[in-house]
Amino acid sequence: SAKTYEHLLVSSPKPGVGFVQLNRPKALNALCTPLILELNAALRDYQADKSIGAIVLTGSERAFAAGADIKEMKDLTFSTAYGNDFIENWSELVTFLKKPLIVAVNGYALGGGCELAMMGDIIYVGPKATFGQPEIKLGTIPGGGGSQRLTRAIGKSRAMDIILTGDNISAKQAAEWGLAARVFDTPEETVDAALSTAEKIASYSQIAVKACKEVVNKSQELGVRDGVEFERRIFHGLFGSKDQTIGMTAFAEKKKPEWTNE
Ligand code: HXC
Repeated sequence: SAKTYEHLLVSSPKPGVGFVQLNRPKALNALCTPLILELNAALRDYQADKSIGAIVLTGSERAFAAGADIKEMKDLTFSTAYGNDFIENWSELVTFLKKPLIVAVNGYALGGGCELAMMGDIIYVGPKATFGQPEIKLGTIPGGGGSQRLTRAIGKSRAMDIILTGDNISAKQAAEWGLAARVFDTPEETVDAALSTAEKIASYSQIAVKACKEVVNKSQELGVRDGVEFERRIFHGLFGSKDQTIGMTAFAEKKKPEWTNE
């Protein structure tokens, strides 16, 4: 998309791939409301763009994002926060974004930065990625889903350890605990790997990709029995897609499938 933003850099460096870079360097990409509104707008554009199959989100080498904007929050009152649904717009992307979002984290991913990363579908980390939920040090708690998503990602004891102490964890730890899918040797490699993964995903049938994301996400909401049943319904449904016929026929005929996204 050719739009320009105050706090984002947006481009499409590979076929089928949307790329969003958080770009508020003076505040270590602190996630002020205008930035979140821009991020939602950019991701909505990619969601609507049929040529885009997957999206990469990253920050800078120093910081993915150092959290929600503390200076914006410090004078908030209960009635304005509650009355105006403060940060409700943070979670919008998890409902409207049906295309895979790969998050490449270098540097700080703290508080809301960690929470934003966890809204992605896959997290890749560079050597100096640093995750934490330091809200306790500010006299508050995670408010962007951290208590829920971190606990699901790494388990209760580890999540409690991080959230109650405010201590950070390293890239290596994040990868060992399964918060991150993979760890890379340099920041550039991390972003390149995320772009390559996005390119690979974008080369598949968008309809199958969408269904993959939907069924995996369902595992976070349903018990295994209901989840497997849900998966089977979607699987059966895909026999109604052209791309299932195309994919399986191409295999049988030893040809490369030409997806129609239908
Ligand atoms: C606003 C921030 C910020 C933040 C950094 N800055 N983080 N501004 N909100 N979350 C600003 C600093 O004020 C400073 O601005 C500039 O960015 C550079 O930061 P420094 O502190 O000078 O850098 P450094 O010494 O390298 O320390 C890096 C840091 C530290 C360890 C990441 O900045 C830090 O602790 N930041 C806050 C981390 C945090 O508590 N995050 C959780 C926020 S609460 P100036 O103008 O002085 O140059 C939260 C709630 C989520 O996220 C719930 C809602 C979704």
